[in-house]
Amino acid sequence: MHKTPLLDKLESGPWPSFIKDLKRVAKRKKSVADLLGVLERSYKDKITHWKHGGIVGVLGYGSGIIGRYTDLPEEFPGVEHFHTVRVNQPSGWFYTTKALRELCDIWDEHGSSLLNVHGSTGDMIFLGTTTDQLEPCFAKLTAKGWDLGGSGSAMRSPSCCVGMARCEWSCYDTMDLCYEATQHFQFEMHRPSFPYKFKIKCSGCPNDCVAAVARADMSVIGVWKDDIRIDKAAVKAYAGGELKPRGGGSPYAKLDIKADVTDLCPTACMNYDGKTLKIDNKNCNHCMHCISLMPMALRPGTATGATLLLGSHAPILEGAQMSWVIVPFMEMEHPYDEFKELVGNITEWWSEHGKNRERVGELMLRLGMREFLKGVGLEPVPQTVKTPRANPFFFWHQEDFDAEAKGRKYIK
Ligand code: HEM
Ligand code: HEM
Ligand code: SF4
Ligand code: SF4
Repeated sequence: MHKTPLLDKLESGPWPSFIKDLKRVAKRKKSVADLLGVLERSYKDKITHWKHGGIVGVLGYGSGIIGRYTDLPEEFPGVEHFHTVRVNQPSGWFYTTKALRELCDIWDEHGSSLLNVHGSTGDMIFLGTTTDQLEPCFAKLTAKGWDLGGSGSAMRSPSCCVGMARCEWSCYDTMDLCYEATQHFQFEMHRPSFPYKFKIKCSGCPNDCVAAVARADMSVIGVWKDDIRIDKAAVKAYAGGELKPRGGGSPYAKLDIKADVTDLCPTACMNYDGKTLKIDNKNCNHCMHCISLMPMALRPGTATGATLLLGSHAPILEGAQMSWVIVPFMEMEHPYDEFKELVGNITEWWSEHGKNRERVGELMLRLGMREFLKGVGLEPVPQTVKTPRANPFFFWHQEDFDAEAKGRKYIK
């Protein structure tokens, strides 16, 4: 064991300590003992001690494993190779203990035993192994029905909120869509063929518990188009204080329906006169505020589906983006043919026009929504913009003039 005075300080305090965990494993794994050593050195030097990049993998796949080598291999031979294996997680991260034991057995045998449960994209992360262990590890995984997740300029592992498994607000079966999309895009996941990475995330409702709108190129967010279902007796129970707001998760002991719910509705489409709660549903923008506060009284409608948004990515290169609406409403029924076809069209358009390492959201900004919509076969609809453009630098195309000459003011 290396001396780790700086890391030792992180064993105190109430939060579960990763140093304690690492030390426990270090007793039986040389690689983890050396990981602690190299980490202590990084704390001291305030700089990483991993070399740049690393390209390793398994035969047949171009993604799934992230190669890593320390720049201090003589001092820390246990982490000379320290590659990461991304294992595709089950939808919603539901495991049986049998499945987890299976994974742990494989990783105890072929790697450091360290896990990240889970990587931010969703994968089960096996942290640290050597190149010669990759194929045997992969063989054991696939023999038990597991597969690698995505990495590189490929479709990444889709992920989803728990959806219908445990949440009454889910407007479509997020776990099923996640699984179907994963199976449908296996080729694109395992063999990078895009200009850059592409992620799909599925949330069952606008609360967006997997943060799809911020960290998936394709964000699928459940929504309804009919009326919010109101249980009048339960509204009364909230007003009388018998039911606690937000399932007991809010600071208010008793809900003031006017102050806490209707006055905070962003579109001011609710009304409460002290007795009856009314919602003008055609002006509701499905923000979830009222439903989240009064889950026993209000429920999403029954004509459900999803809004599709495209384009979110972190700041590099052109600045951070959140996804924005490209399809206000799409039915989300198994086997999701329309969705799969659209994602196929989008990745095709992007692969054709995208520059090297240009995310699809950046391509949309560079070529414009008009090119995008035409390229993927979607109609321009008002919901795709927050406000119309404020400048007059509008591009006219010959087809616009032709349409105008025929008496039509705008092409459809
Ligand atoms: C009351 C004062 C001003 C008025 C009425 C005015 C008016 C305008 C107008 C009409 C445009 C064309 C915008 C467009 O077509 O989109 C423009 C652009 C511009 N103005 Fe002004 N302007 C004023 C003050 C200034 C000042 C003080 C500056 C510089 C310090 C300035 C710098 C510019 C520049 C650089 C552009 C071109 C912007 C671009 O193309 O991106 N303006 N201005
Ligand atoms: C009868 C008076 C004017 C006429 C005929 C006129 C005409 C024009 C034209 C044809 C352009 C080029 C537009 C383009 O290519 O998009 C232009 C640009 C511009 N004009 Fe004027 N202009 C007049 C008065 C003014 C005045 C009084 C100002 C300043 C207060 C001004 C500021 C500008 C600016 C800043 C631009 C550059 C806009 C840009 O390219 O972003 N103009 N003007
Ligand atoms: S995103 Fe909506 S449906 Fe999914 S778990 Fe969260 S609240 Fe429930
Ligand atoms: S979901 Fe949001 S917009 Fe719709 S009625 Fe409730 S608070 Fe208003």
